[in-house]
Amino acid sequence: MATKITWIGHSAFSIQTEEHLILIDPFISGNPVASVDPESLKPSFILLTHGHGDHVGDTVAIAKRSGATVFGNFEVANWIAKQGVQNTVGGNTGGTAKLAFGTVQMTIAFHSSTMPDGSDGGSPNGLYITLNNGLRIYHAGDTALFSDMSLIGEKGIDLAIVPIGDFFTMGPADAIRAVQLLRPRFVMPAHYNTFPPIQQDVFAWAAEVNSKTLSNAIVLDPGSSYELQG
Ligand code: NI
Ligand code: MN
Repeated sequence: MATKITWIGHSAFSIQTEEHLILIDPFISGNPVASVDPESLKPSFILLTHGHGDHVGDTVAIAKRSGATVFGNFEVANWIAKQGVQNTVGGNTGGTAKLAFGTVQMTIAFHSSTMPDGSDGGSPNGLYITLNNGLRIYHAGDTALFSDMSLIGEKGIDLAIVPIGDFFTMGPADAIRAVQLLRPRFVMPAHYNTFPPIQQDVFAWAAEVNSKTLSNAIVLDPGSSYELQG
């Protein structure tokens, strides 16, 4: 069965496998481009790349209502637990956690990671996810371009999700270099067109991916999905 990837908007994605709905960075209620009702989401897992409000988003409310397990770095997971969320798992950079849907390795990311209340959010991360069905998804989180993306690419990536918005993260040109290093089968852009400082011409970027890299760009509208085949 195909795995359904939905772009909620900004860095927020959902991954629907046969058994699990997994949310990544569910920034929904304060997100001007997200149209999904956070109340309608019943994930079994929420994965967080770092502590910023535009990534933690609705995590606490959704986890309390759905009973989802929240996975993030040690500081992020502890902060989420302190808000009253029952099930949290805190990893750290380089480590891999085995969860019911597969595994998640916390990769490096070059960014910052303060929690919404200003407390320490540890180190920012990317997430290298291997689903039980074998699909490998890399969500880069918020990051600058870094050459070790080539090491992540060596592991094999079916779908990479990379920020292209510039200003807070790498911009379109560096994101093309990132795709060249990661060499995924498919790539989806994220972290753009949410706010004025991160407006980008996503179709120009996608055309450049298709002409300058071996990967295929997939551009979704917020709320729309792509069926990733194994
Ligand atoms: Ni951030
Ligand atoms: Mn961000």
